[in-house]
Amino acid sequence: MTTVQASACGKAILFGEHAVVYKQPAIAVPVTEVTATAIIGPLADDTPFTLVAPDLQQQVTLPDAPADDPLAVIVRKTLTQLQQSPPKATCLTLQSTIPLGRGLGSGAAISTAIVRALANFYNQPLSPAEVSALVYEVETLHHGTPSGIDNTVIAFDQPVYFIREQPIQRLRVATPFTLLIADTGRTAATREVVGYVRAQWQQTPELYEAYFAEIGVIAEQARHIIEHGYKDEAILGELMNQNQTLLSQMGVSSPQIDHLVQAARQAGVYGAKLSGAGWGGNVIALVESDDQATQVIDALQAAGAVAVIKTTVG
Ligand code: PMV
Repeated sequence: MTTVQASACGKAILFGEHAVVYKQPAIAVPVTEVTATAIIGPLADDTPFTLVAPDLQQQVTLPDAPADDPLAVIVRKTLTQLQQSPPKATCLTLQSTIPLGRGLGSGAAISTAIVRALANFYNQPLSPAEVSALVYEVETLHHGTPSGIDNTVIAFDQPVYFIREQPIQRLRVATPFTLLIADTGRTAATREVVGYVRAQWQQTPELYEAYFAEIGVIAEQARHIIEHGYKDEAILGELMNQNQTLLSQMGVSSPQIDHLVQAARQAGVYGAKLSGAGWGGNVIALVESDDQATQVIDALQAAGAVAVIKTTVG
């Protein structure tokens, strides 16, 4: 048996997290600097199909895996879609450089890598839409009520303007721009933060619907700037700042996020905001140039960022 492998990138939400759950538009981009990889290879003897995830300290045979284990769920769903039974004497190993629970899409990327690797293994290609639909089913285990933005941007591997339950809209990036993605080092469970926003929305629906609507307008304006070339980059940065203010008012920022956002702004970025569910995870900052990026990376590290990724969008 030959070894087969497939990868999937991470993702960052540029605009519209949380509001996207309530059908407002959001913008997300692939982050290719981090990846999840699934490797399917032979096992020495006639053991059942085995899943190995060293980062999660997990090694389990498929028949022994709990019914709700996310890795086993995506494997089972993919095998059903491919109309295949689990291969014997075979092992699926996962490797990932995407930090867990930091809003960079680690769960969706791991699932996507598994689906792609199994499709390669059986030589039965699946379309990005088919991959995305399978991954979405597992996202419901992680998130409860996922909007579907993570599986869409990762499975399609393209910048997207995303509206829940609507067909994917690819985002054309007229002028590439550089983002820094700074890790607060804090993990937050998306399900909990999304649950908090839902509870707040139920208590004060008018207020939260106003937040969601304002964020939707920001995402729409950002789309226009990104697609038509942003001569005035400062506007895109200002939209990021406005989105951060609203997320903060909604209660999903945190002292660590605020600290990194402040540090980036003081170092002169166009704009900065949290990315993903909040309460931890990553902050994104729009920088003017590579020279400025170097200075801002230093400032973010001095302010406590445990890792900083530099990525180009477009
Ligand atoms: O998985 P995260 O942390 O990037 O959060 C996803 C973004 C949310 O809008 C908060 C939830 C969702 O399902 O869209």
